[in-house]
Amino acid sequence: MRVLSGIQPTGRFHWGNYFGAIRQYIDLQDEEASLYFLANLHALTTIRDRDLLRELTLDAAIDLIALGLDPDRAVLFAQSDVPEVSELCWLLMTITPMGLLERCVSYKDKKDRGVSADTGLFTYPVLMSADIILYDSDIVPVGGDQVQHIEVCRDIAGKFNHLFGETFVLPKAKVLDDSAKVPGTDGEKMSKSYNNTIELFEPTKSMRKKIMRIQTDSRPMEEPKEPEGDHLYQLYYLFATPAEREEMAALYRRGGFGYGEVKKALADVADRFLEEPRAKREELAAHPKKISEILGDGAAQARSKAQEVLKRAQENCGIKGW
Ligand code: ADP
Ligand code: TRP
Repeated sequence: MRVLSGIQPTGRFHWGNYFGAIRQYIDLQDEEASLYFLANLHALTTIRDRDLLRELTLDAAIDLIALGLDPDRAVLFAQSDVPEVSELCWLLMTITPMGLLERCVSYKDKKDRGVSADTGLFTYPVLMSADIILYDSDIVPVGGDQVQHIEVCRDIAGKFNHLFGETFVLPKAKVLDDSAKVPGTDGEKMSKSYNNTIELFEPTKSMRKKIMRIQTDSRPMEEPKEPEGDHLYQLYYLFATPAEREEMAALYRRGGFGYGEVKKALADVADRFLEEPRAKREELAAHPKKISEILGDGAAQARSKAQEVLKRAQENCGIKGW
């Protein structure tokens, strides 16, 4: 089985990205042949600042490795380092019905949020389809918001196979468990768009400041409270050990404490969890050449598969092989 997923380098990773997606990608690297890439061609549909895009792409690579993605076990590369994907994207576009893309919710959402409706945004799912089938991927772990795009991918790949003969593997989505959406500092879902994030690699001082500013209700100290459904407890839960979770839950039920104490405990468990990744990140950031090497190796491995699949597609549709 081949697992593949991509993540857009459109901002620094926050707690929601880690617990909702990244952690689960990293867990999969031990199970199957896995490829992960930084979707910088997709990010170009929203970021038009050269230096920022470069920086975010490199930061994303460093963050992923610091968090445990192991380039010896998984292939990590930048999307733009595999030019075959753009060629395959064109082949797919020639058979993609407009209506299929017009139905995509994420296009409609972004347009409604004011992202300019360029053709790159509209054809985003076609490039995503090319990303996936270019490596004969079987399984694509994604958040629930991306499942529709995997369906689009299966439609397009299936149509190509139907028209030109068996060419592509049809992938399956593995929907990540984001049922427990990580709440942000205002209690709503943590998201870049809501300005309520805590970045994973924030320095401890600013992380603690944000934690102290997490909004809570104004319940009197002595009043007992159910921990479930309380967003401060939900955040604590992510970082705490099972014993610590139980202890904190008991404290909630007993009452007689202030939220300040919970916030302090949250900051402590978050700092504890981040100690190793922060050290690893610092070390990696001090050796940018190493990161270029890792991305270069990853791209070379990815390309060798990509070239094989692209050739198959080109031959089957009649643009190569005379
Ligand atoms: P944002 O909402 O901050 O723009 P993205 O849409 O870039 O985040 O999310 C990237 C990945 O992280 C997706 O797979 C998404 O499901 C996951 N994710 C983002 N925010 C959360 C959250 N608050 N809780 C759980 N998963 C999340
Ligand atoms: N669209 C995905 C997201 O925003 C990122 C992505 C691009 C992707 N290409 C992909 C994910 C291929 C899985 C497979 O989260």
